[in-house]
Amino acid sequence: MSTLKAVRGTRDLLPPEVSVWQRIESTARAVFARYNFGEIRTPVFEDTALFSRSVGEETDIVSKEMYTWEDRARAQSEKSQSLTLRPENTAGVVRAYIEHKLGETGQLQKLYYIGPQFRRERPQKGRYRQFSQIGAEVIGPPSAGSESPLRDAEVLEMLATLLDELGITGWTLEINSVGSAADRARYNETLRTALVPLAPKMCVDCQRRAVTNPLRVLDCKVPEDQPIIDTLPKIVDSLDDASKAHFVAVTAALDAAGVPYKRNHRLVRGLDYYTRTTFEFTHGGLGAQNALLGGGRYDGLSEAIGGPKAPGIGFAIGEDRLVLTLQALNQETAPPRVDAYIAPLGESLNAPALALARELRRAGLSVELGDGSFRLKKSFDTADKTARRIVILGEDELQSGILTVKDFSSGIQTKVPRAELATHLGMPGE
Ligand code: HAM
Repeated sequence: MSTLKAVRGTRDLLPPEVSVWQRIESTARAVFARYNFGEIRTPVFEDTALFSRSVGEETDIVSKEMYTWEDRARAQSEKSQSLTLRPENTAGVVRAYIEHKLGETGQLQKLYYIGPQFRRERPQKGRYRQFSQIGAEVIGPPSAGSESPLRDAEVLEMLATLLDELGITGWTLEINSVGSAADRARYNETLRTALVPLAPKMCVDCQRRAVTNPLRVLDCKVPEDQPIIDTLPKIVDSLDDASKAHFVAVTAALDAAGVPYKRNHRLVRGLDYYTRTTFEFTHGGLGAQNALLGGGRYDGLSEAIGGPKAPGIGFAIGEDRLVLTLQALNQETAPPRVDAYIAPLGESLNAPALALARELRRAGLSVELGDGSFRLKKSFDTADKTARRIVILGEDELQSGILTVKDFSSGIQTKVPRAELATHLGMPGE
């Protein structure tokens, strides 16, 4: 029988590597709490129409990367329905905002999420078919200040803080404005016209994009096409005055907060819902898939999926890529050792050893339990790999209540009365 393996583009995360993920997630939760964000958990699958209407029918994500299936009706009262594993979470959050009438609170909603997303992309380093995003959205009625450029700057400043706290050095914030939906449409037409004489000299993908979605030409990575793309009109020249002023206010607030950024005129992003500010944080340690995170403003998204006017801004961090970056920077911390390893000397001491482990664990210590069939040398070898100290439990120790404890960092062996054991094991190494 052939062996079964994890599906291409998916991965198992095992200890000890998973501790890096846990550290990232707890740091993110702590930072989000300081900025008054609450957690939202939306379903992993949604009605397919949610993504086609928000992310956009013509985008790569919707046109070729979604895991979509026809969910058959199980009862007469049900209808079959096209469902999709979420390729991103902004659409789900905005759907929930509309469904639960969060706009009626009149307050700004500040929501974050951590969870798996699914895209059928060609797997490579930093690109998976199931990947995890840590994201946040700030959304609300305009009267709550949701359109303010201060929101954009605050979100970017929070990201800079989070990356710094995680120990990610050397990131670059690239920022642009794609203007209003009308500005974007106007720019798309300007590009379409400009590309007519140029496209035949470009790669086949650009030749196709020049007709179907000219904005996507700006994402082209083919080296020979770059000098041609540099000559194309810039989106900044298609922005209306309000969008220009909004962008100037965002960058002024970033300057005031001391968050460094680079203007990237080509940053238009691969999802259709963006308006005005768009951004990415990139990192050189990542190679070809160098976007650590991406985001932007989506002032018309709620209305596009049938909701009230609810401008918003948000981002999603590729958690897999954060881990890769930390590994490249050698910032992953060594897996923590447990406080103690209990070595029963003989099988008759297994049960008393479990009782001792229970006592110590209840006192808040982390404990690994050996087996009495092990020889002492094997117990020592195993304990030395996993624990800070080893506690020997033989007949003598059990009767006298005085245990033998060895500290691996100092090599010192001591006798400790059982009543003092938890306190002793809780102390830092000698
Ligand atoms: P996105 O740029 O499509 O934006 O994805 C955000 C981040 O997710 C990327 O920068 C990357 O780090 C990570 N990512 C995307 N695809 C993959 C993949 N196949 N494998 C590993 N990591 C990946 C969004 O998803 C928007 N919802 C962000 C947003 C939130 N905009 C506003 N609010």
